[in-house]
Amino acid sequence: MSAAVSTRQQLDDVRQKIVDDDPVPELRESATQLVFGDGDPEADIVFIGEAPGKNEDLQGKPFVGAAGRFLNEMLEMIDLKREDVYITNIVKYRPPDNRDPFPDEKQAFMPYLESQLDAIQPKLTVTLGRHSLNCFLPELQISTCHGQPKRYKDRVYLPLFHPAAALYNGAMRQTLIDDFALIPAIVDKISAVSKK
Ligand code: URA
Repeated sequence: MSAAVSTRQQLDDVRQKIVDDDPVPELRESATQLVFGDGDPEADIVFIGEAPGKNEDLQGKPFVGAAGRFLNEMLEMIDLKREDVYITNIVKYRPPDNRDPFPDEKQAFMPYLESQLDAIQPKLTVTLGRHSLNCFLPELQISTCHGQPKRYKDRVYLPLFHPAAALYNGAMRQTLIDDFALIPAIVDKISAVSKK
């Protein structure tokens, strides 16, 4: 069995565990389906958003609406495709009316997200927006730490602004594009250090 198959199997197991545990029944009941994650299980880079929106809920994949198209564009700018990375959210069911997920809902899904990351073992974990950042590094402010890689407990995180927030805000949009452009060099540096 190849490594890719076994990581995929581990991810399938995490997905099944969410179905079995049913950590937030109210969200599951109001959503169309579980939005677990998408992309390469062996990816070097994992992107983590907040929660599925309407399009994601309908298609069962994260970041497939306007924010997702912007994310795809930025990936292309650094010569990557969606299939080269792995994309997921903290919360795996769409909150009703696109409200922000509640703190206890985010907390309830964190063990599954941790298991996803343990299975994939990415070189770089990119948090999209302050909710995603603060689930891992609660003391940091996105306004001051965006674009700066942070090593914490065997993982390297890169905090970025959320593509949906930056989409229609010219200054934030350019900052996000500039921060995104740092990703290849950050991954190269992590690879060089881990080979030593
Ligand atoms: N915003 C998110 O945080 N996640 C998605 O999947 C889509 C939009």
